[in-house]
Amino acid sequence: MTTVLAIETSCDETAVAIVKERQVLSSVVSSQIELHRTYGGVVPELASRQHLETVNPAIAQALAESGLTWSQIDGIAATVAPGLVGALLVGAMAAKTLALLQEKPFLGVHHLEGHICASYLEQPRLQPPFLCLLVSGGHTSLIHVEAQGQYKTLGQTRDDAAGEAFDKVARLMDLGYPGGPVIDRLAQRGDPQAFKLPEGRISLPGGGYHPYDSSFSGLKTAMLRLTDRLKLDGDLPKADLSASFQVTVAKALTKRAIACAKDFSLKTIAVGGGVAANSGLRQLLTATAASQGIEVLFPPLGLCTDNAAMIACAAAEHLALGRTSSLKLSVQSRMPLEKVMELYG
Ligand code: KG4
Ligand code: ZN
Repeated sequence: MTTVLAIETSCDETAVAIVKERQVLSSVVSSQIELHRTYGGVVPELASRQHLETVNPAIAQALAESGLTWSQIDGIAATVAPGLVGALLVGAMAAKTLALLQEKPFLGVHHLEGHICASYLEQPRLQPPFLCLLVSGGHTSLIHVEAQGQYKTLGQTRDDAAGEAFDKVARLMDLGYPGGPVIDRLAQRGDPQAFKLPEGRISLPGGGYHPYDSSFSGLKTAMLRLTDRLKLDGDLPKADLSASFQVTVAKALTKRAIACAKDFSLKTIAVGGGVAANSGLRQLLTATAASQGIEVLFPPLGLCTDNAAMIACAAAEHLALGRTSSLKLSVQSRMPLEKVMELYG
């Protein structure tokens, strides 16, 4: 039985969780959204300062809610890459200090590996190989999960990430930040056929289109032109615009994920990242995959956006395989998923 306490502070959530054998015993997420809302995005210095204030109470709360004592915890983990360096440092230092004090192994975790492992918390029997569609504020990737810690990125975005596109389009309609959940809610009562929008295909030099890469900048520009024109006529039809935008993103992601799964003979697609919470994507991808004999897994709704349970889950998988990190491990703002194994040994 492997039980891990993990801390996640890579961006604007201070999160601490305890996971035992792919089961969440406690998950505390303290969001800084209100703090950053006035700036329309995350301010790194404010984020680090807030993490410092919140991290210790969050650790105490996660431990209390789990009902465990330190002696029942096998390892202590923290997100160490990628993310805001000052923010990552707070979580990593807290985890290393705890590891030293409690005499437990420390594990550094790659944030995106956490998003990939979030599906384990929904489906504890899931094992590699499978395809992960990772759609967050910073990434839109198709990843071949060959084994724990072994990843190959098969497709990615050439410009904006899916979540970033949701956020930027929401700003065009004055819907606030973060935009994904608001667009998702508005889209429920809009007409997805109201406006025809470009899906953003990547041309290949020899002709045809790249099967797995995506692009959302053209769609964003189309939305900008459309909203500018519609604003001249009066109030924006925000529900119809949201529904049309959302279905276009869902179609683009579904088409690429299914093509990739079929080409690599993968029978399972696990979706991860904040946009995995999107109802339009959930419906379209699940229905399309079912017609092709492919199973689709989404993390529990509350574990799509940043949280520490997914980080604890990833760390527990590595710890169960005998892997731990050095206390000298540093944090990194960028790091390809292909280098995850460099965090251990
Ligand atoms: O994974 P995440 O919490 O942070 C990153 O690691 O980037 O993803 C945040 C992103 C934001 O862009 C947010 O707008 C988007 O996920 N998001 C959604 C929904 N909920 C969150 N996008 C579409 N529909 C949603 N329901
Ligand atoms: Zn994330």
